[in-house]
Amino acid sequence: MKESQPSAIFLKDYKVPPFLIDKTELTFDLDEATTIVTSRLHMRRNPAFGKSTAPLVLDGGEDVKLIGVAMDDYALPPEEYRVSENKLIITATADEFLLTCETLIEPQNNTRLEGLYRSSSMFCTQCEAEGFRHITYYLDRPDVMSVFTTTIIADEARYPVMLSNGNEVERGKTDEGKTVVVWHDPFPKPAYLFALVAGDLAVKNDVFTTQSKRDVKLQIFTESHNIDKVDYAMEALKRSMRWDEETYGREYDLDIFMIVAVDDFNMGAMENKGLNIFNSSCLLASPETTTDDTYLRVEAIVAHEYFHNWSGNRVTCRDWFQLSLKEGFTVFRDQTFSADMHSETVKRVEDVSFLKTAQFAEDAGPMAHPVRPASFIEISNFYTLTVYEKGSEIVRMIHTLLGAEKFRAGSDLYFDRHDGQAVTCDDFVAAMQDASGVDLTQFKRWYSQAGTPIVKVTDSFDAATGTYRLTMVQDTPATPGQPTKLPLHIPVRVGLLDEQGSVLTAEVNGVSAEDHVLHLTSSEQEFEFHGLSAKPVPSLLRGFSAPVKLRYDYSSTDLLLLLSSDSDGFNRWSASQQLAVNELTALINQAIEGQELSIDSQLVHGFKALLNDESLDPAMVALILALPSQAYLSELATPIYPAAIKQARQYLKALLANALSADFERVYREHKMDGDYQPTAEDIAHRSLKNIALSYWAETESELAQQEVVSQFKTANNMTDQFAALSIAVNSQHEKAEALLASFYEQWKAEPLVVNKWLMLSASQEQETALTTVKGLMEHPAFDLKNPNKVRSVLGGFGQSVSGFHHENGSGYAFLADQIILLNKRNPQIASRLCTPLTRWKKMQPELSVKMKAELERILAEDLSKDVYEVISKSLA
Ligand code: ARG
Ligand code: ZN
Repeated sequence: MKESQPSAIFLKDYKVPPFLIDKTELTFDLDEATTIVTSRLHMRRNPAFGKSTAPLVLDGGEDVKLIGVAMDDYALPPEEYRVSENKLIITATADEFLLTCETLIEPQNNTRLEGLYRSSSMFCTQCEAEGFRHITYYLDRPDVMSVFTTTIIADEARYPVMLSNGNEVERGKTDEGKTVVVWHDPFPKPAYLFALVAGDLAVKNDVFTTQSKRDVKLQIFTESHNIDKVDYAMEALKRSMRWDEETYGREYDLDIFMIVAVDDFNMGAMENKGLNIFNSSCLLASPETTTDDTYLRVEAIVAHEYFHNWSGNRVTCRDWFQLSLKEGFTVFRDQTFSADMHSETVKRVEDVSFLKTAQFAEDAGPMAHPVRPASFIEISNFYTLTVYEKGSEIVRMIHTLLGAEKFRAGSDLYFDRHDGQAVTCDDFVAAMQDASGVDLTQFKRWYSQAGTPIVKVTDSFDAATGTYRLTMVQDTPATPGQPTKLPLHIPVRVGLLDEQGSVLTAEVNGVSAEDHVLHLTSSEQEFEFHGLSAKPVPSLLRGFSAPVKLRYDYSSTDLLLLLSSDSDGFNRWSASQQLAVNELTALINQAIEGQELSIDSQLVHGFKALLNDESLDPAMVALILALPSQAYLSELATPIYPAAIKQARQYLKALLANALSADFERVYREHKMDGDYQPTAEDIAHRSLKNIALSYWAETESELAQQEVVSQFKTANNMTDQFAALSIAVNSQHEKAEALLASFYEQWKAEPLVVNKWLMLSASQEQETALTTVKGLMEHPAFDLKNPNKVRSVLGGFGQSVSGFHHENGSGYAFLADQIILLNKRNPQIASRLCTPLTRWKKMQPELSVKMKAELERILAEDLSKDVYEVISKSLA
């Protein structure tokens, strides 16, 4: 452990910057050995800061070597500045001046993948959140916005493509024959949106004509062997541009929009102004190498980054506590976009399922934080499901409270009022409130209060008056640093069904409708529905109208009725999940008690009906057939018994498979498709139903099913079907599983993104020797510790192996801890993300809990990066 540990910074301490940078001129002399960066910063004291003689303090990184610094072309002697704790401090400055700074960096040794680094044979950057300081000294904070001009000098033979933000304005040669390219971005921006790329790249060109009839040049760059895989992303980009015009009235603002794919990237993608940089796993797509899920993800992320041009770039964040201002809103925008492109209900189910599994777990763990955190040690740790997904739910609730029209008026006002500014979540809510007249004062608590609220609902029916009463009680559990909570404003969308499943019209507060949004604002509140002749079955929290845990004592009969008849498609899925959770919970308890598992499953009836109802969307049927995941059941459990959960899921799956074997076989055959692969909602739906049907059928003893798995693997003309067959073989312990895995690798070893899928599946296997397998994978030629996608594949896959990761002797936890320690300094962001499974130690069954905790303590004893230190120390607190 270090002598002194990193300390937290607080939202309440925010102060406007003492200095501003009106113009930033950067020159990069790129070279394999050393890169020289010269910056010319046109600075002045910030009038808003007030009169001051405060010194100028610029942010830097330990990897930035200062060569020299000059003020108005006067080279400062060493006594006039100092570098301390990665800050460059200059005591005396004029009110307005030009600061010139020369620094040396070594991108080829940058393993953190923040700032300027090498990926394959190119140079690229990642500056959000605080990466720019690893390039040169700067006021690296989002409220310092500057107009950037960037000069790139490089050897054209190796780096024919040289890109930065904005427009290319000049091109020439140096005396030594190197190429010089100058880019200028007219829109003031914070340094986190700066980008630079140089490499030998292929390009795909296109044009988009905006609503005001301007032609925008579109370019996607990749290494030459991948350029045949960008057509889908290009089409997705054009759909996004059109959608943002039609839905939000937002038009693109520069004459050129570029996307570059890089292999080594810590996150999914980055919205740098005019020059988005993507993890190649989130951009490239081809039928043979890419699954349906990934097609949808590519489209969503292309849209997400594009939408940031307004929600993020034109209007940005004042400070990093406001991260959800851009991320929550932009996730909401990309979710709505995908819903519009495909199926709204399917999209909602997928998003909610993810939220309830992963964000709810985060909100219940040691890293729980509000959507607008009040403090942090390392901001990279706050690119979380809470800031992104729960942040999106907050914007969605505002949409529900205002209605579509007023919401649009609110967003128009927000963009109009704050264009070119760095603002706060409060400013966003104020615009929504001002444009709509809807009071959002209490609602704002969603931004500052962590934890998932629990809403308990009870009901009664008064036959004499035909009145149905719902009583709702809300309670948000304590989270670290927030022992007590205030009531939130929770929109609860409700419909009512009669015994036959028909939708009922009822009157609430004088309004007669089939669907009501109830406003739960107190700790306890009662709502009355009038005009009913019998006690209805309530369809609660339709469309998941608020990110809460709903508790209502549904009988199995109620759930089967909702599953078969609710007019809200989302709640049909929700009912099926609840039914499955109830049955699995009973089975898990039997497993924990060491009993033989047995259940009279109601799901058999529900599933049978579904499999025989041709009026349903096959995609919805597939989602309903998917049993609650190991991860979701773990989120629900206290304590978590991983092996019992696994056993219960396997048992129920086998039971359903055997009971409905003929139905699964038939559905499998009915949804098989000939013809070319298309990633359309319709085709994806058929494939998903077909493949889940096969996964059940393969759980039976049927010889035919086993043959079908192998045959689909061999004959598939697309990766979705081939990989589904492979996964089924592996998960059902098919006798050919090993052979298929080996043949898959042989077939795809030249395609790194496919190999990553193979790494993940191989690492996730349930077998006594899982740890040996994963160690072998990390020695495999296809593995590379420097590549975050590969690390995530292998270690993420291993985390899914109950027999490997949760081995009772603790060897799985020790292995993960070893990898965290190994990556701690090399790539702090990745190391920190790897800690997540261990942070759940308090919820684990006692025997495993102590072993996890011991590993956390072992990690804490190391000399840790800020990133890892924050997560580990908070987990042990
Ligand atoms: N703003 C990027 C996005 O579109 C993510 C950047 C992630 N950066 C980080 N340091 N975690 O969501
Ligand atoms: Zn984003």
